[in-house]
Amino acid sequence: MPRDVTPSKKTRRWRFGLVEKHRESDAMTIHCESLLAATEAYVRQTLAGDSSGHDWWHIDRVRRNACRIAQTEGADVFVTELAALLHDIADWKFHGGDDTAGPRAARTWLEQHAVTEPVIDHVCAIIAGLSYKGAGVKTDMPTLEGRCVQDGDRLDAIGAIGIARAFAFGGHFGRAIYDPEHPPEMHESFAAYKSKGGPSINHFYEKLLLLKDRMQTPAGRKLAEERHRFLEVYLQQFFAEWNADA
Ligand code: ADP
Ligand code: NI
Repeated sequence: MPRDVTPSKKTRRWRFGLVEKHRESDAMTIHCESLLAATEAYVRQTLAGDSSGHDWWHIDRVRRNACRIAQTEGADVFVTELAALLHDIADWKFHGGDDTAGPRAARTWLEQHAVTEPVIDHVCAIIAGLSYKGAGVKTDMPTLEGRCVQDGDRLDAIGAIGIARAFAFGGHFGRAIYDPEHPPEMHESFAAYKSKGGPSINHFYEKLLLLKDRMQTPAGRKLAEERHRFLEVYLQQFFAEWNADA
């Protein structure tokens, strides 16, 4: 295998210690650490076997992206990591379009683990507001931690990994790769976005190419630039090959 395409074994360090307010005592720190470890195990087990681009490694990448952004932006890294870990625990795309399933499952889990009510509310609000809802629908996040998780999730939807995930998702749901007779649609409501399913290439125009300008933090915006350029280069090559020009 050529050296420059050898699969990477590097993993970026993502946890830089818990934010001061969760560190009122040693016991609290231990509780936070063991809660994160238990949550990681729960999520890994729940998402095992997924082949739609929403597997455990998506969650792991999102939490590392999100914690990296949180560190730069001065957000609460504990809440950010907890919400990132639980963000796709019961995604509406796999629960008959029910966008309350995710926050509900997260609440049940956190209540079983003696998490304080404000942290539960915050994590569940992040999960409830996270998802992309269509080109014409705003998805503002009221808290900095929410913005870090949303940017972390959106980074994983673009660039090389985003491309792999889009086609994995399309294959999982029986979508065509591309169909020139089926143009992209700019959905004006979440209901329209949820109910339509076009070819995977359409998703680039309906969502992926729009994400760069919708990143919520300066750090996220910066990280999105190179991944966005990669999408553009990919599409140029895709259409050159499609049209027998390359
Ligand atoms: P969100 O909550 O914003 O939808 P997710 O973490 O659930 O984010 O991941 C969404 C990803 O699933 C997309 O970025 C894409 O990779 C894939 N996906 C969703 N809808 C489609 C679609 N119609 N065609 C291709 N891929 C899709
Ligand atoms: Ni996600």
